Amino acid sequence: MFYDLARKYMFSKDAEWAHEFALGNLRRFANTPLSLAWSQSILNKPVEFLGLEFKNPVGLAAGLDKNAECIDAFAQMGFGFIEVGTVTPRPQAGNEKPRIFRLPEANAIINRMGFNNKGVDNLINNVKASHYKGILGINIGKNKDTPNEKGKDDYIHCMRKVFEHASYITVNISSPNTPGLRDLQYGNALDDLLESLKAEQMDLTSKHHKNVPMLVKIAPDVDAIQIEQIAESLVKNRIDGVIATNTTLERESVKGLKFADEAGGLSGHPVRSKSTHVVSELKRITKGNLPIIGVGGIDDAQSAKEKLVSGASLVQVYTGFIYRGPQLVKQIVDAL
Ligand SMILES: Cc1cc2nc3c(=O)[nH]c(=O)nc-3n(C[C@H](O)[C@H](O)[C@H](O)COP(=O)(O)O)c2cc1C
Repeated sequence: MFYDLARKYMFSKDAEWAHEFALGNLRRFANTPLSLAWSQSILNKPVEFLGLEFKNPVGLAAGLDKNAECIDAFAQMGFGFIEVGTVTPRPQAGNEKPRIFRLPEANAIINRMGFNNKGVDNLINNVKASHYKGILGINIGKNKDTPNEKGKDDYIHCMRKVFEHASYITVNISSPNTPGLRDLQYGNALDDLLESLKAEQMDLTSKHHKNVPMLVKIAPDVDAIQIEQIAESLVKNRIDGVIATNTTLERESVKGLKFADEAGGLSGHPVRSKSTHVVSELKRITKGNLPIIGVGGIDDAQSAKEKLVSGASLVQVYTGFIYRGPQLVKQIVDAL
């Protein structure tokens, strides 16, 4: 009820304005009685994954709370885990606005944000200031002006900073909005990056006496051979898990709709089956030995179950959450 009203108002405004307005209120009122507007208690449906205990399998996907400003509010909505970021070493403005577009006829969004964020130090201060004690993923990326050959240094910089504050770390090499970033998903570039990050993870583990699993987030726009190669490299480099998937560059299913030709990544219902396909291929290729978080087009219990039966142990939502609000989390968890 509350979200239906809030959505009506926000959908009448520019998408990024509405996003900032919503985050501002969530942040401001999270620890006040007004938080009752979005707080809900959700059944415990614990899942053990990567040695961590999740209170339920439905998480918030990266990119909604890039600077970790609203962790407490999202926890009040009952998410089983929260992923913040993508964060880069240095703050950056992202692409020119407008850069988010709603496609309501398709329950979809196109975005070309370009990793707008306030930098890793700011994110850590926000994490420290939150009251949240649940599972927190921190998603890391590279600055736009860092060339791919030096991309590794940006990821390592962020890993070192976030290691002691994260339950798990996601290495994002699949955003379509940082030029060249997706090249890191393939061939020697991927092997080289993963080898270095694994070595760094091991160093940090012994330094902090703490295990922090590292997952890699991949794109849905990969062919059969590319999925094989990615899976092989993840396993070879002993990466703890994979998040499948990010947004797609494909536009086939939204052709003719307003904003369909905007540049950027398409998310929501149109990416659902592509993401599910990547999840099931990863499971098949790795014989179920690579832990998977499924994300892409989940907007009801059925689409969440689809990811879980295809091989994911946990799911995340972004676009479905924008369209359906906190009740989506409850609906999915209740149905599992
Ligand atoms: C506006 C917007 C911003 C996003 N920013 C990020 C990001 O910073 N890092 C990331 O890994 N994924 C980002 N994503 C991708 C989502 O986390 C998710 O992988 C993708 O949207 C598919 O899920 P969905 O269909 O539930 O939205 C973003 C998605 C949207 C719509």
